[in-house]
Amino acid sequence: MYKNPFESTLSSRCCIINKIINMTNYYKPVNFILKNNRAIPQIGFGTWQASDEDTYNSVLLAIESGYRHIDTAYIYKNEEAVGRAIKDSLIPREEIFLTTKLWNTFHTNPRAGLEKRLRNLGVDYIDLYLMHHPVALNPDYGVDRPRNADGTYDVLKEWTFVKTYHLCQEFLANGKIKALGVCNFTLKNLKILLNDPATKYIPDVVQNEIHPLLPQHELLKFCSSLDIVMEAFSPLGSTNSPLFHLKEIVEMAEKYKVTSAQILLSWGVWRRTVILPKSVTGSRIKMNFEGLVVLEDEDGNKLDLLTEKYGTKRFVDPQYTADVYKED
Ligand code: A2P
Repeated sequence: MYKNPFESTLSSRCCIINKIINMTNYYKPVNFILKNNRAIPQIGFGTWQASDEDTYNSVLLAIESGYRHIDTAYIYKNEEAVGRAIKDSLIPREEIFLTTKLWNTFHTNPRAGLEKRLRNLGVDYIDLYLMHHPVALNPDYGVDRPRNADGTYDVLKEWTFVKTYHLCQEFLANGKIKALGVCNFTLKNLKILLNDPATKYIPDVVQNEIHPLLPQHELLKFCSSLDIVMEAFSPLGSTNSPLFHLKEIVEMAEKYKVTSAQILLSWGVWRRTVILPKSVTGSRIKMNFEGLVVLEDEDGNKLDLLTEKYGTKRFVDPQYTADVYKED
């Protein structure tokens, strides 16, 4: 539900007081430069699991608050609301970095998928087009999540995500997409894609679930070596995140006099990933943009190692096929 954008929580008041007395070193949002030489703001705005009305209001508020990077997808069912909010914000289209994603039932016909995305969003081009999952689902039934009789997903086993990517890389030539990338990719799948001789364009971005309990250090290192930007979806650990209550996060929040959420997001920017926090709450939308802190390296490193104590934890897993998330 959309909440009053002007509501002030204790934590956002603390954040303002801290700023005034200058106790904390606050992070100033920056842009990264993609391989295609276009700028991508490091803090993006996530819109998954938001109704149309919440999406419209929260995207509008996010833009008013300074966000210039909005992330949506066909399957979020809110592209139309995102497009409307961008238009109504009166910020010129070229100042907003807009991402949407190719849904799994469009792998065999990504051109049709793209045309629908442009229509839904009401835009002429998309700044970043991402393959949502490395899984092609059967499009024949006209449903988003086709299932077999036994309840498993109806996956097109004869199709590969490599073929889908090759069809998508053609879209870069006509300017309808400015950058191309993939989501929910393991290092193994990324290497399969890169090693294919027909892959002409190295993805600009890999967008995965990333937070301290799913840091994906090896993949991040590999992507950095190729100038591929990694984006973190669910950087807070998604709805009702247990990460907020981890002892180390709580203690660090006390040290920097911010909230656990701010620490989680600050870790994301400290390790040079793009972060895509989602919120429909006014005070949080602002705090997630303005209230991040510059972590000391010692603290960033401490969070890098949290999985040694707690193990890894994935909060978002649609369970398409066993090998989508299987670690290498
Ligand atoms: P809400 O949308 O009701 O504000 P993620 O970005 O990891 O997917 O997490 C999204 C979840 O985290 C949503 O439930 C969102 O709630 C909540 N959330 C977003 N920002 C904050 C924040 N600063 N403090 C606490 N919870 C937050």
